[in-house]
Amino acid sequence: MSTPHISAEMGDYADVVLLPGDPLRAKYIAENFLDNVKQVNAVRNAFGYTGEYKGHRVSVQGSGMGIPSMSIYINELVREYGVKTIIRVGSCGGIAPDVHLRDVLLAQGSSTDSAVTANTFGPGFHFAPIADFGLLDTAYHVAEKLGVSTKVGDIFAADRFYNDELDMTKLRDYGVLGTEMESAGLYLLAAKLHFKALSVLTVSDLIFGDEKTTSEEREKTFNDMIKISLETAIA
Ligand code: ADE
Repeated sequence: MSTPHISAEMGDYADVVLLPGDPLRAKYIAENFLDNVKQVNAVRNAFGYTGEYKGHRVSVQGSGMGIPSMSIYINELVREYGVKTIIRVGSCGGIAPDVHLRDVLLAQGSSTDSAVTANTFGPGFHFAPIADFGLLDTAYHVAEKLGVSTKVGDIFAADRFYNDELDMTKLRDYGVLGTEMESAGLYLLAAKLHFKALSVLTVSDLIFGDEKTTSEEREKTFNDMIKISLETAIA
């Protein structure tokens, strides 16, 4: 079998999938954290792998950037390959004043200026996309055990990376922790397709500061987030 964007066979994906935006991060996770790895997808270089973490089957699949690209992979993974749990592992820009570079954030819910929620429910109706509480609770306590402190709250999923009109100060005033481009879409699809979802994010840049991480640093500091996500996946 195959789908328009995935060439894997039925059964090639585990029930639980880690979903980084960057396909090279999928490769990095597979090579550095999983045993007995098999590559299951390479269509459009959206790499997907299945292996074992501490004896449990886990997959990792690159989703591309933004809700439209990520939604393609989620729909095909869940509808065609029967995936039950998706944990996004990504980066985000820090917004809240107490959020620092390289912090790990757990997206309890996700606000958005993407049209996906409005297009789903129609005018005047604002659906609140939220994480699976079991996964959120597990990730929070797993992180504590690993000695990694996390912050839990609202993540703004932006429709555009470059958007001069967007008022980030208002999001900060309303307590939003950070911004990326996927979580609201992930949580909306989880509600629609009845799978469990969580976004775990590392802060790669600050919206109200100059500090930034290099892509090399991001890869290294990314490891805490991966451990938390893999331990959550097999809990
Ligand atoms: N992902 C990482 N940093 C981001 C930012 N500043 N805005 C949107 N997505 C991001």
